[in-house]
Amino acid sequence: MSVPMIDINKWRYDEFEQVGKDYSLNNEVAVYEETHSKFRELVQESNEFLDILSVKAGESLIDFGCGTGVFTIQAALRGVNVFAVDISQNMLAYAEKKALEKNIQSISFINSGFLNYTHSSELVDYIMTSFSFHHLPDFWKAVALKRMHSMLNSSGVLYIQDVVISEENCINNINSFIQSQEELGGDFLRVDAIEHFRDEFSTYDWVIEEMLKRAGFKIESKESFSGLICRYKCTKEED
Ligand SMILES: C[S@@+](CC[C@H](N)C(=O)[O-])C[C@H]1O[C@@H](n2cnc3c(N)ncnc32)[C@H](O)[C@@H]1O
Repeated sequence: MSVPMIDINKWRYDEFEQVGKDYSLNNEVAVYEETHSKFRELVQESNEFLDILSVKAGESLIDFGCGTGVFTIQAALRGVNVFAVDISQNMLAYAEKKALEKNIQSISFINSGFLNYTHSSELVDYIMTSFSFHHLPDFWKAVALKRMHSMLNSSGVLYIQDVVISEENCINNINSFIQSQEELGGDFLRVDAIEHFRDEFSTYDWVIEEMLKRAGFKIESKESFSGLICRYKCTKEED
């Protein structure tokens, strides 16, 4: 069974309304890389993903929820044509400034989101979304996956990294995660983690995996860390 194509214009979820952490705020944008660097190697991680995807110069990629543009810029440095999409004007402005400082001009920065972005160029080779998909409630995740499916060419690849919850031992895993975030980044990362699980829409891995299948994706690989972070590499199921 697949997600039906629907006319959602009258009741579309307002994805421009920030939920949980407010990435429209300049002060959140300004501290994003410094705080995330306490638990992620941002540039190294981006290059690992680009290696996994085996991207080549001249290929195309949409980065949904590009944030400060770390992945977007690493992809562009490899000659990939990137469409960097984010609902936050301030995130986009920050990312664009960094790209211009590096004299990179092959990135299109677009103020839009999973539910509103319309891709009017050729279908793309890759879609990446890192730590952004959980901003949508589950029904809308399914709608967004179907939309992303329609933007990828027949050999296209979707790569998702996000906070996705394995059910076994999940309460303990979440509590341990909040504690380890506090150890790494004090109050800021503790509150950040609490707000994540309280206010945002991270869901179970079995929910995401079923949604991926119903949207027409095949999960080629899954990596899971601490029962809370998942990385999925997906291709399009043949019709
Ligand atoms: C946690 S940051 C992730 C940034 C970056 N991708 C990374 O891996 O560090 C989440 C980003 O998703 C954006 N975002 C939230 N909801 C979105 C939506 N519906 N469509 C596109 N971007 C969205 C936020 O504005 C924010 O920049």
